[in-house]
Amino acid sequence: MLLLRLAQQTLRLPVSRALATTAMTESRGVTSYTYNADGSVTHKLSDGRLVSPLTKEEAGDRVWLTAAGTEAYLSRKLANPEYTKGLDAAQERADEAGMPRIAVPETLGQMLAVLLKSMRAERVLEIGTLAGISTHYLATALPAHGQIDTIEASPEHAKVAQANFLALDTCPFPTTHVGQALKLLRDPNGAFKEPPGTVEGLPEPGYDLAFVDANKDEYFQYFKECMRLVRKGGVIVFDNAIRNGRIAVPDGIKVDSDCVGLRELYDWIEKDAGKTVLASAIQTVGDKSWDGFAIVYKL
Ligand SMILES: C[S@@+](CC[C@H](N)C(=O)[O-])C[C@H]1O[C@@H](n2cnc3c(N)ncnc32)[C@H](O)[C@@H]1O
Repeated sequence: MLLLRLAQQTLRLPVSRALATTAMTESRGVTSYTYNADGSVTHKLSDGRLVSPLTKEEAGDRVWLTAAGTEAYLSRKLANPEYTKGLDAAQERADEAGMPRIAVPETLGQMLAVLLKSMRAERVLEIGTLAGISTHYLATALPAHGQIDTIEASPEHAKVAQANFLALDTCPFPTTHVGQALKLLRDPNGAFKEPPGTVEGLPEPGYDLAFVDANKDEYFQYFKECMRLVRKGGVIVFDNAIRNGRIAVPDGIKVDSDCVGLRELYDWIEKDAGKTVLASAIQTVGDKSWDGFAIVYKL
């Protein structure tokens, strides 16, 4: 219950009014909030969710500290211009095309970049491109001669992503494969029939990292294909792997198909008992409520 309330971003803290003098209002997706000079946030509360900024009079001497506001604070503080420059315009292109605001937050984009840099990664596979925002983070962390393949089912989304890659001058330039991910990944004559070839200095052919962010109920199938395509010592990251905690409902209780896909993945990892993979999952709160990611290292 405590976690759920955290996820609903309802942590209320009285602080000095003096802290809340410089305020900026911003809308991100469905959440509108005001953040103050100290990173705290002023909000109205409705149905357990923080939906709109308070007026100064309403706020009185209190502000609301929220996971969404803290996310905005961290994004501001940690943004690396090499990765984030031009992304506002990229998001606007996505908005104009009527796409949902479900791209990775800046913090996750840069966490993936940290991971790729620390692995000295050269080859990345992404499943689920949307407007190419995560793809841009991933590509930017690779050397110029690197390779990034991204798969997107929707031709409209792929078109916006392509426009974004051109406008952002994304390097290495991503190859967008348009179609249903499983069909493309399993095509015996297609681009993914075998892992990319060996690179000097690396013992195994295959992608260094796969980022999975498409159809949640197919996550286990994506996992099996990624295990085939990622090299030994490579990593597979699954976004949205917690689903407001619904992955963990007791056996026997009906869960939605997204959770079925994820639970198949967690069941497999449990049965593997550390023989093939080393895995972890991290729960997060932020501007998109309670979720998180899973990360799998191929032994
Ligand atoms: C959550 S969005 C991806 C967000 C993107 N990774 C980012 O952070 O910027 C999921 C995307 O996967 C695509 N998708 C959903 N099911 C798919 C499938 N079976 N094959 C390929 N793409 C799929 C959707 O059209 C959508 O664009």
